[in-house]
Amino acid sequence: MWRLSFIFLAIPLVLGSPTWNEGLTKAPRYSMNIDLPEEERWESVLQHWNVSEYREMARAVFDSFVNKETMQLLEIIAGSLDYYLPSPYAGEIRGIAKFFQMDVGEMVLYNLFYDITLSGGCTSIVAQDSKGNIWHARNWDYYFPATLRNWTVVVDFQSHGKTLYTATSFIGQVGVFTGQRPNAFTVSLNERDEGTILDDMIQILKALISDKTVFTSFQIRDALSRNDTATFDSALQRLAYHPETAPNYYIIGGVKSTEGAVITRARLTAVDVWRLDLSSGRWFVLETNYDHWKSPPKWDYRRSHGNKAMNAIGQDAIDLEAMLKVLSLPLVCNPMTVYTTLMSAAHPSSYATFFRHCD
Ligand SMILES: *[C@@H]1O[C@H](CO)[C@@H](O)[C@H](O)[C@H]1NC(C)=O
Ligand SMILES: *[C@@H]1O[C@H](CO)[C@@H](O)[C@H](O)[C@H]1NC(C)=O
Ligand SMILES: *[C@@H]1O[C@H](CO)[C@@H](O)[C@H](O)[C@H]1NC(C)=O
Repeated sequence: MWRLSFIFLAIPLVLGSPTWNEGLTKAPRYSMNIDLPEEERWESVLQHWNVSEYREMARAVFDSFVNKETMQLLEIIAGSLDYYLPSPYAGEIRGIAKFFQMDVGEMVLYNLFYDITLSGGCTSIVAQDSKGNIWHARNWDYYFPATLRNWTVVVDFQSHGKTLYTATSFIGQVGVFTGQRPNAFTVSLNERDEGTILDDMIQILKALISDKTVFTSFQIRDALSRNDTATFDSALQRLAYHPETAPNYYIIGGVKSTEGAVITRARLTAVDVWRLDLSSGRWFVLETNYDHWKSPPKWDYRRSHGNKAMNAIGQDAIDLEAMLKVLSLPLVCNPMTVYTTLMSAAHPSSYATFFRHCD
């Protein structure tokens, strides 16, 4: 996280009218047929990217993060991919590697990269309006924002032409950090971490090899796709208590009153579930990258600015457009912000991801 600090310090506090409504561009959206074999199903999405350009950009990004120990661990995983990464992930990763003419081990790294280097920013909010509608919005902040904008894509995972779930992803990645199961729940992931990138990567790969824990991005896609997590409550239970590879925050929204929560996770289980609570006036929960019961560091204004803006808007006026405004405030939207996603499980057609360019 220290890497972020200079950016937040360097930006003066600008009070001015936010530019949220000035023609934001939507990320491209494609559907993927999950009835196809795992190795083939991503082709309909990948075909919109240039193979050699993708490969070049991917190598430029990831080269700086890989050392010898990491490579050795990756080779172990790639050598028994189906053992370490359950279906459908191994098959899909193989298919993507083949499409981009890359080694499977390399593609595994590209897939685990976000899980193992989660040290970006991110702001997520779930709110309940006065009529009981649940609205969910998130900013994704990360390194290499220009490259990630190039890879950002919304995918509708379909079976027999029907969308089972929708996710905002990065080309080449089979796991999910932002997604919606229509008429059930919406979910976003924020990073919770104190270590350095390389320490994390090695710790997490070791956990995968020795404990067979689940990667965050697969945990989310599992929740979106499984039949036994097709409701807000069952998805919350799984996201909170199923063991996984790294600590993090899950922000989850449902379809009816009080269905909204921030789950604060350690690797094995949740340490806290912070739910909407209308009786105590908590009509929204806003999470950045700190436990909600602790104060954020002085240089990071995202939480205080976000909370202030939400309270200024108020429960009567809150909706996705108003939340986009909050996520567009200076500092909340920052140079590392790649995209903003707006979603609501009870209004699935409102799912939208916008590219962001905030200074
Ligand atoms: C992909 O990009 C490369 C390098 O920019 C270019 O030479 C090639 O023609 C492109 N391929 C396609 C299919 O557009
Ligand atoms: C992605 O980057 C490549 C290489 O710089 C560029 O040619 C392409 O137009 C970019 N695509 C998008 C969607 O920005
Ligand atoms: C979910 O249920 C449907 C209908 O009962 C079934 O066809 C499908 O295979 C199940 N999916 C999973 C992942 O179990």
